[in-house]
Amino acid sequence: MRLGLGALGPASEWPVPPIYLRLTEGLKKATDLSNDALEIFTSHVTMDVTHARIMMEAIAPYAEDEEGQEKVREGAMRSLDARSVMLDGLYKVVYGEPAPLVRDHVRSTAP
Ligand SMILES: [Fe+2]
Repeated sequence: MRLGLGALGPASEWPVPPIYLRLTEGLKKATDLSNDALEIFTSHVTMDVTHARIMMEAIAPYAEDEEGQEKVREGAMRSLDARSVMLDGLYKVVYGEPAPLVRDHVRSTAP
């Protein structure tokens, strides 16, 4: 359960604002999508700050001891690694080349 909390909390909410901000900027430059069409991304730039805070408070009781913290961290890192793979793949499809700094930014969940 704590792995899932890590994946759903810190890994899903915290990174979204900066990712969606850059994604929205890129989509505006590369496409003629309207602001309405981009709302799912732009709205989450601000909403996920609140979501992240809510998730942090919800997870805290499950991460009070070292084991809980390790499990939450492991879940978060696994999810972040998967997101990195997904975004790198998206970059490659859109730009036809590997994303810059690809492997340097993928963290291992190994100790
Ligand atoms: Fe959210």
